[in-house]
Amino acid sequence: MELPENLGLRRLREKALDGLRGRVLELGIGTGRNLPLYPEAVTHLVGVDPDGAMLGRARGRARGAPFAVDLIPAVAEELPFEDASFDAAVATLAFCTVQEPQKALSEARRVLKEGAGLRLLEHVKMDRKHVAWAQEKATPIWKRLAGGCRLDRDTLAAVREAGFEVERVERHLDGLVLTVFARNPG
Ligand SMILES: C[S@@+](CC[C@H](N)C(=O)[O-])C[C@H]1O[C@@H](n2cnc3c(N)ncnc32)[C@H](O)[C@@H]1O
Repeated sequence: MELPENLGLRRLREKALDGLRGRVLELGIGTGRNLPLYPEAVTHLVGVDPDGAMLGRARGRARGAPFAVDLIPAVAEELPFEDASFDAAVATLAFCTVQEPQKALSEARRVLKEGAGLRLLEHVKMDRKHVAWAQEKATPIWKRLAGGCRLDRDTLAAVREAGFEVERVERHLDGLVLTVFARNPG
């Protein structure tokens, strides 16, 4: 993962996190690559991931963070948090793997305060039909090789379906990767 991080992924992560503040939830936090990139105004970061080994590595990255960090083994589809308890939610390269994205997004809406932001940085199914077709065809094999990752997710449509207001979408690599800035209308 170091090569893509150095070739621009880290910069995309930073831009996706820009302006966040307060109590932030990260879904599918993995090894915690975003932890050093959160802005100073974040006071408390709560990360969830079902993979204990990933969370173990995230714990290492959390040491010395300038905000409180809680890392919790949980799936995004069943968040063990109260309604309206977060100022923002983030997921990077996670909605390709989450089994039930719609359920996870409706959980994210539940735990976000009214007006709170949702920031996603995700690879998605592309608009171009022949590429989308290839992504669909490759997904069954890719899923097996890459820990359940799907190449054919329409995550932007899922965000809209879950009732978030999409404020801005930034397209990278001709639309293979999107940064989605959305908010919970309450
Ligand atoms: C490709 S990794 C990305 C990790 C991290 N977000 C990053 O940007 O480096 C996908 C992560 O999603 C997690 N994941 C898989 N299913 C999940 C679910 N249902 N809920 C939350 N996280 C999940 C995996 O355990 C893994 O850590």
